[in-house]
Amino acid sequence: MITHPDSTVEVERAEHPAPRPVRSFVLRQGRLSPAQERALIELLPRYGIEYTGAPLDLVQVFGRRSGVVLEIGFGMGETTAAIALAHPDRDFLGLEVHAPGVGALLKLVAAHSLSNVRVIHHDATEVVTHAIPTASLAGIHVYFPDPWPKKRHHKRRLLQAPFVHQLATRLLAGGYLHAATDWEDYAQQMLATFAAEPLLANTTDGFAARPTWRPETKFEARGRRLGHEVFDLVFVRNAIPGWDSGLNARPASAEVRPRAVRRRA
Ligand SMILES: C[S@@+](CC[C@H](N)C(=O)[O-])C[C@H]1O[C@@H](n2cnc3c(N)ncnc32)[C@H](O)[C@@H]1O
Repeated sequence: MITHPDSTVEVERAEHPAPRPVRSFVLRQGRLSPAQERALIELLPRYGIEYTGAPLDLVQVFGRRSGVVLEIGFGMGETTAAIALAHPDRDFLGLEVHAPGVGALLKLVAAHSLSNVRVIHHDATEVVTHAIPTASLAGIHVYFPDPWPKKRHHKRRLLQAPFVHQLATRLLAGGYLHAATDWEDYAQQMLATFAAEPLLANTTDGFAARPTWRPETKFEARGRRLGHEVFDLVFVRNAIPGWDSGLNARPASAEVRPRAVRRRA
């Protein structure tokens, strides 16, 4: 306990420490290859955005008004780079906590001269809460989030009602939330959670067909090898008149919907 007489706040904090947040990840001492380490040193200042807790101006970040897609937990970034390469008209903001993955994506960004990718090396729940403005995103990708299969760990799953609501508020009207998983019970949980979120509407009945533009990810390939079925979910942000006057605004030149959504609209 801290006993300094002038420091009552500190004393209270020591007696009632804030509960530690339940995180969706465990930071392991992953091995950083020399090339990934070099990428973090040389490329992060160019393609990275430092998380400060302040709201981002996405037009300023990408230097244009394009329709920004946020990807949460990009892993080693192969999918992010492939999608960004195929969609030069959109901008992609990737969030990841795993340093080797950040280094790996930075290498791909530089190798393909991708001007439409930026990376934040930080916890997505904090970034979304503090740095992503309301009604600012054309889309959100969450591909194969950690499944936390044991029941006692389910509380660590990223896609739960409060965070899903927060994600929905960050979408522009018509913007999409696209998630995929090879864990059936997590897929069912996502489906129920997304369906119960009033700001979101399903683009189909139940699970979506895998959009042709989503390349197979590393974790997906592993899941398939284990015999797991893969589930895609594509929901769109409702426009609710009067809920927030900014919500119905779309970026002027943005093509915000993935093909799968457009087909069913
Ligand atoms: C199972 S991997 C999937 C990676 C990639 N999307 C794929 O399909 O290959 C989940 C990733 O999410 C990241 N992650 C988990 N929670 C996160 C959070 N709160 N913020 C950012 N990244 C997170 C992990 O570090 C991990 O790289």
